[in-house]
Amino acid sequence: MKKEIKIFSPATVANVACGFDVLGFCLDTIGDDMVIRKTEEKGIKITKIEGYDLPYEVEKNVAGVSALAMYKDLKPDCGFEIEIYKNIKPGSGIGSSSASAAGSVYGMNELLGKPLDNTKLTYYAMKGEALASQCEHADNLAPAIFGGFTLVKSACPLQVLELPAPTDIFATLIHPQIEIKTSESRAILPKDIPLQNAITQWANVGSFVHALHTSDYSLIKDALNDVVIEPHRKQLIPHFDDLKNAIMEAGALGTGISGSGPSIFALSKGENTAKKVEQTMRNVYSKTNIQFETYVSKINTQGIKTL
Ligand code: HSE
Repeated sequence: MKKEIKIFSPATVANVACGFDVLGFCLDTIGDDMVIRKTEEKGIKITKIEGYDLPYEVEKNVAGVSALAMYKDLKPDCGFEIEIYKNIKPGSGIGSSSASAAGSVYGMNELLGKPLDNTKLTYYAMKGEALASQCEHADNLAPAIFGGFTLVKSACPLQVLELPAPTDIFATLIHPQIEIKTSESRAILPKDIPLQNAITQWANVGSFVHALHTSDYSLIKDALNDVVIEPHRKQLIPHFDDLKNAIMEAGALGTGISGSGPSIFALSKGENTAKKVEQTMRNVYSKTNIQFETYVSKINTQGIKTL
């Protein structure tokens, strides 16, 4: 059996406009690399972190916390070393902590001969994710681990539904270089919502799921609308309304805040439209004094993978 593997742990978009804390999808071109190594010495160690300044202490690092939770339950007759080559900026809203939390448990599971299924891996990864957001949610982790579009039917007990991805759907992302902490972005949300908004939102979630199953692009467009979370969070993202209007004029199916922000995602039919949306995002943000990065990605239906 292998002693070491190198993996690609992808970035993800959570919420997908209407599905706060339940919907997510997996990106293809952005992600972290990690190396997981079996050791004779027992325990978990983080031996290398490149890209961003993150803690080496296992209990303070999301990859370490998820690895430790799984390690304590499985009690394997070995230890593990974790190396993290981080490309996803922490606090960017595209699942940086999820990529780390999922990567360590996925790698350990592979090296142990795959005793756990994807749901159980997501369960352990949630322990790490909770360190970053002070809340156990799986809407970034599920797409990172399962790939494609996912819906978290229930977080406790964990139940993840895999949704189909229409073949011609592409994502465009803009990442303004400001940091928004998930915990702070959650703290500004109201605890109660008006009934009419709840009705609109659950109709949109149901319609979006139906649209994915039927590849109904027109219904995807109608359903990608968030009347519950976006009105509160958009104030954290400079020029959000200008960007949104321009993205829709460029032909996107829909747009919204990626996870807890500041990244903004758009979904489009076809790569050409996704690239046009990218240029539009660049045009809008070039007029500001905020640095930014943009990406175009197809939907990654495989999720996390061994390199
Ligand atoms: N669903 C989460 C949120 C994703 O929006 O707060 C961020 O990790």
